[in-house]
Amino acid sequence: MIIIPSVSLATLDDARGIAEMSRDYIEFGLGWSWTPARVQKAIRDSSTNVAVVREKGDVLGFGIMRYGEQRAHLTLLAVLPGQRKRGLGAVLVQWLEKSAAIAGLERVQLEARSDNPGAIAFYRDQGYEPAGTQPGYYRGEVDAVRLEKSLWISKGREPDA
Ligand SMILES: CC(C)(COP(=O)(O)OP(=O)(O)OC[C@H]1O[C@@H](n2cnc3c(N)ncnc32)[C@H](O)[C@@H]1OP(=O)(O)O)[C@@H](O)C(=O)NCCC(=O)NCCS
Repeated sequence: MIIIPSVSLATLDDARGIAEMSRDYIEFGLGWSWTPARVQKAIRDSSTNVAVVREKGDVLGFGIMRYGEQRAHLTLLAVLPGQRKRGLGAVLVQWLEKSAAIAGLERVQLEARSDNPGAIAFYRDQGYEPAGTQPGYYRGEVDAVRLEKSLWISKGREPDA
C-alpha cells in the first residue's frame, strides 16, 4: 500500500529548509530571493499559506499560496528530488487549492519558468491551462509561462453571471 504523507502548515522552524529548496530547485541560476527571512514572513502572513508535506519529521516538499480577493497565486512549489513522482506535489497543490476554494476564490494563477517543461507538464496534469507568456519575468533573464485553473470548474459550480 502506498501511503502519502499528510500536508500541514509550515512552522517558523521549517523556513530555512524551505528557503534552501527554493534556492536549489526553483531559483537556480537566478540568485536567492526566497531567503529564510522571507519564508518566515510568508509563514506569518495571514493572506498566505505555506504548506509542507512531512515524513518522520522531515519536510519532503512545500508549497506557498497567496490569497487575494478573487484569485489565489501559487508562488512556489517544490519536492525533494528523491521524493518526486510519488504524488507529493499533487497532494500539496490540491491542499492549497482546497483552502482557496473554501475561501470562495475563483481561480488560481501561477508562473512557471519556460525552461522547466517538467513543471509545466505537472501543472497541466493538475488541470492548469496556459494563459500567456511573460518575457523576462525572472530577473529579465528567463521567460515565464502563466498558467491558470478555475476553482469553480473543479468544484462543479458555474460562476455567477
Ligand atoms: C514540479 C514538482 C513539484 C512535481 O512534484 P512531484 O511530487 O514529482 O509531482 P507528482 O508526483 O505529484 O506528479 C503528479 C503528475 O504530474 C506529472 N509530472 C510530474 N512531474 C513531471 C515531469 N517532470 N514531467 C512530466 N510530467 C510530470 C505526472 O503526470 C505525474 O503523474 P504520474 O504520477 O502519473 O507520473 C517537482 O518535480 C519539483 O519539485 N520540481 C522542481 C521545482 C519546480 O519546478 N517547481 C515548480 C515551479 S515553482
